[in-house]
Amino acid sequence: ELSPIDKAKFVAAKRATEFVEDGMKLGLGTGSTSAWMVRCLAERIREEGLRVTGVPTSTRTAELAASLGVPISTLDEVKWLDLTIDGADEFDPHLALIKGGGAALLQEKIVATASDQMIVIADAAKEVTQLGAFPLPVEVIPFGWQTTKALIEETLVSLDVMNRDCTLRMNGDRPLVTDEANFIIDLHLKRIGNPRQLALVLNQIPGVVENGLFIDICDIVVIGHGDGRVTVRD
Ligand code: A5P
Repeated sequence: ELSPIDKAKFVAAKRATEFVEDGMKLGLGTGSTSAWMVRCLAERIREEGLRVTGVPTSTRTAELAASLGVPISTLDEVKWLDLTIDGADEFDPHLALIKGGGAALLQEKIVATASDQMIVIADAAKEVTQLGAFPLPVEVIPFGWQTTKALIEETLVSLDVMNRDCTLRMNGDRPLVTDEANFIIDLHLKRIGNPRQLALVLNQIPGVVENGLFIDICDIVVIGHGDGRVTVRD
């Protein structure tokens, strides 16, 4: 028996995999909800003989897909995708997202942007009226990261952002290292008044590789509830 939160993630993932059609090239997201999606996809491959090519957004997802018999390739091999299904940490009424709680935001953004369609799968707790309660992850180059962090903080001051606590994400007593060998700085902003502007200015800072704001990328959010209901936003 699944806990309500796992049930919510599972039903969202299961519904989203119904959007997958034979022959599709698919972006495979990262995180616990996406892991359910990979399992549901594996089941359709086994039971219906569904043919797909998956492009994983992390080493973790690549390993899971391979272990379950989901065929995987690389973005450079397939170049363009029909659909990406991925989780999110928050989504707002415009379907803008915060992603990167699992540190995979860079590959996730590249893959989602290279897809005709992006479907987000989420439990109902991720729905917000305004983004920012979840700390915004920013992927930075390790070289000079403290200077980059200071520049991020200055940028937040110039934007009149009230809460601008920034922390280097750790893995035990060392900085967490992403799949692309970078660091993550988490921005504890509480609320993000203008996500579009923030996303643009952050990416202007040398040393910033990418930020976890996904704007105009997600087309549909499939929301799972603890009682097994599913609702869809588009
Ligand atoms: C990974 O970097 C994130 O963008 C995930 O998609 C996000 O953290 C959602 O993870 P869960 O499905 O585990 O909540």
